[in-house]
Amino acid sequence: MKSINKLRVLAGLTVLSCSIAFMGCANQEQDTAAPADADQAAMVETVQSSGETAQMPAEQQASEAPLYMELPRSLSPVECGGCHYGQYTRLQKSDSKHRFDCLDCHDQLHANIPSKNNYNEILPKCATCHEMPHGEAFPNCAQCHQDPHSPLIIPFAGVQGNIKNNAGKDVVACEVCHYDTEGKEMETYPSKHNVDVGCTGCHGDEKHGVRPSCFDCHEPHTAEQVYADCLVCHQPHSAMNILPYPEEMSNTVCAACHTGIYDNLQANHTKHTDLQCASCHVTHGQIPRCQDCHDEPHGAAVHKRFPDCLECHVDPHDLPVKP
Ligand code: HEC
Ligand code: HEC
Ligand code: HEC
Ligand code: HEC
Ligand code: HEC
Ligand code: HEC
Ligand code: HEC
Ligand code: HEC
Ligand code: HEC
Ligand code: HEC
Ligand code: HEC
Ligand code: HEC
Repeated sequence: MKSINKLRVLAGLTVLSCSIAFMGCANQEQDTAAPADADQAAMVETVQSSGETAQMPAEQQASEAPLYMELPRSLSPVECGGCHYGQYTRLQKSDSKHRFDCLDCHDQLHANIPSKNNYNEILPKCATCHEMPHGEAFPNCAQCHQDPHSPLIIPFAGVQGNIKNNAGKDVVACEVCHYDTEGKEMETYPSKHNVDVGCTGCHGDEKHGVRPSCFDCHEPHTAEQVYADCLVCHQPHSAMNILPYPEEMSNTVCAACHTGIYDNLQANHTKHTDLQCASCHVTHGQIPRCQDCHDEPHGAAVHKRFPDCLECHVDPHDLPVKP
């Protein structure tokens, strides 16, 4: 980030002549560099910020023209907004750090002279204040930041196909900046989200950075679940990679899919009924060994003869009732 030059030149006559004829507006930089005449040079003042009223030399204050008692001061953003309503209100609503003085960017204004064809020349340039924050691949700021008065509104639908890399090839815009995290994650853990949805399918393409909720497209497994619960087991960019869940994970969530097992545990009440599914199944799909918790309780001879506990105990979710 380059620093903004806060020092501005307040050129005399600018405001008054502007309100009469815009085309006649003096280029403020020109005024400083080469004042047209001595009178005008005397009125050139450097101010720290807008809103400061410059004082007339004492002999002029005694003038008999009361409308001309004071020197003009530079306009505040809301005053510019009186005529440039659109630019002002877009900045106002933008959430952008660009909501500083218009004149910090517009150091030349009302200087457009059609015969000179100088419109682009007099408008501010991003490079005055910014380096290339996204690297050499993105030199054309306006491709995405289409309006400097609301730079964070990026209509990806319109721009995505138009963005080329240095070799002139279309690039998938999102992944160019988000490859190391989300892009790579989706590549490593493919799911139907990759093909059936895609980045803009979830994040929208009218405005950059919108965060969707799973509930925009899915029902929860159980009625009690809230959005944050989904992220305990699923990340959106690797949805089928079920994450390790905490031991307190409610059995009813598992029951949504493993209904028979849950029902058996409830119907045939044993000491296993009081355990969490997640106490035995620490990660999804993992199968514990009985010996992990019980060791070999019946003596070496029995276990040698019946190596599989379930030959007698049948089903950990439905242990035979004691005789
Ligand atoms: C961060 C810098 C910045 C600030 C702050 C800024 N502008 Fe601009 N403005 C620009 C740039 C850059 C352009 C040229 C846009 C283009 O090339 O289309 C521009 C263009 C304009 C134009 C020409 C029409 C258009 O929209 O392209 C007007 C009028 C304008 N600005 C008014 C304002 C007013 C009024 C304010 C303050 C309320 C303001 N600007 C604040 C950077 C800024
Ligand atoms: C009294 C109304 C009025 C006020 C106040 C006003 N402008 Fe303008 N401005 C215009 C008109 C009219 C044009 C020329 C037509 C157009 O391009 O919309 C213009 C053009 C511009 C342009 C386009 C570039 C150029 O030189 O033509 C910019 C940038 C701009 N104004 C910025 C500002 C800023 C910043 C302020 C406040 C410091 C301001 N204007 C105050 C009416 C106004
Ligand atoms: C007069 C200096 C100036 C000019 C010219 C300027 N910017 Fe900025 N811009 C800033 C400052 C200062 C910030 C806030 C930086 C910070 O706090 O990190 C900023 C922030 C931003 C941001 C961050 C998001 C936000 O809005 O807060 C974007 C995007 C941006 N500028 C894009 C642009 C683009 C594109 C242009 C050219 C059309 C441009 N800027 C021209 C000074 C400028
Ligand atoms: C391919 C689209 C694209 C292009 C081209 C582009 N940007 Fe951005 N820029 C973005 C997106 C998307 C963000 C993130 C906005 C957010 O935080 O919501 C961003 C963020 C920024 C930010 C604030 C965050 C940061 O990384 O500092 C600045 C400043 C900025 N851009 C300036 C520029 C400038 C200057 C250019 C031209 C040299 C430019 N951008 C070109 C899409 C683009
Ligand atoms: C030019 C670079 C660039 C491009 C292209 C880009 N982004 Fe971003 N994106 C950023 C930056 C910079 C941030 C802010 C990162 C931060 O705050 O750490 C961001 C943030 C985000 C966020 C988080 C917003 C938040 O509220 O935290 C989402 C979601 C996002 N981008 C999605 C996308 C999607 C989807 C695409 C494609 C349509 C995309 N981005 C294209 C640069 C880019
Ligand atoms: C199935 C929907 C879906 C798809 C497809 C998707 N995302 Fe996301 N993305 C989300 C959700 C939901 C979040 C919020 C996650 C959270 O709150 O932790 C998110 C968050 C993000 C964030 C912010 C990350 C952070 O740490 O704050 C970025 C950046 C992002 N996604 C980029 C992308 C990119 C790039 C793609 C395509 C390669 C993509 N997403 C595809 C749903 C999706
Ligand atoms: C924009 C809509 C959308 C959003 C948001 C979304 N998904 Fe999906 N998701 C889909 C579609 C479409 C499919 C594929 C069809 C289906 O299985 O229903 C899918 C499939 C899935 C699958 C199965 C994947 C496979 O390969 O079989 C899981 C798991 C999933 N989503 C979880 C989530 C979670 C968790 C979130 C929130 C973090 C989320 N989704 C957000 C649209 C979405
Ligand atoms: C206890 C972990 C867990 C939680 C919490 C969880 N899921 Fe799942 N989800 C799974 C498992 C396990 C699968 C099945 C994976 C498989 O088929 O191998 C699954 C599958 C899905 C699927 C694929 C379609 C289906 O029903 O089989 C969707 C969509 C889904 N979950 C959405 C959600 C949403 C939305 C939330 C939040 C309300 C959520 N999940 C919370 C574990 C969880
Ligand atoms: C959305 C449905 C869904 C949810 C919720 C779910 N599972 Fe599953 N589960 C499945 C599917 C489908 C399979 C089989 C495919 C696989 O192995 O991923 C499976 C497989 C298993 C297996 C391995 C079965 C075998 O034969 O190897 C165990 C153990 C298991 N789940 C336990 C649980 C536990 C414990 C929970 C709760 C924390 C749970 N599941 C939540 C759908 C689900
Ligand atoms: C006391 C520990 C324990 C508890 C509690 C437990 N399981 Fe199991 N589960 C096991 C063991 C051991 C196996 C392997 C059984 C075998 O080898 O046939 C198993 C197998 C499974 C299987 C795959 C085989 C099958 O029967 O389909 C699923 C699915 C499963 N359990 C889900 C659950 C769910 C859901 C819960 C909670 C409602 C749960 N388990 C509670 C220990 C337990
Ligand atoms: C994660 C640990 C764990 C695993 C794995 C496990 N159990 Fe248990 N089991 C327990 C606990 C805890 C109890 C209750 C002990 C107590 O209260 O003394 C128990 C109790 C039992 C009981 C007594 C039931 C009652 O209601 O009196 C039997 C029989 C049993 N387990 C058999 C098995 C078998 C067979 C397996 C393998 C298929 C197995 N267990 C796997 C933890 C486990
Ligand atoms: C030959 C049949 C048989 C085999 C094989 C068997 N058991 Fe048992 N087990 C029983 C019977 C019968 C009881 C009931 C005895 C009682 O109530 O005192 C029992 C009781 C238990 C109990 C609850 C009583 C206690 O000691 O607290 C546990 C725990 C248990 N078995 C674990 C296992 C494990 C673990 C295995 C495999 C390594 C296994 N059993 C293999 C028949 C068997």
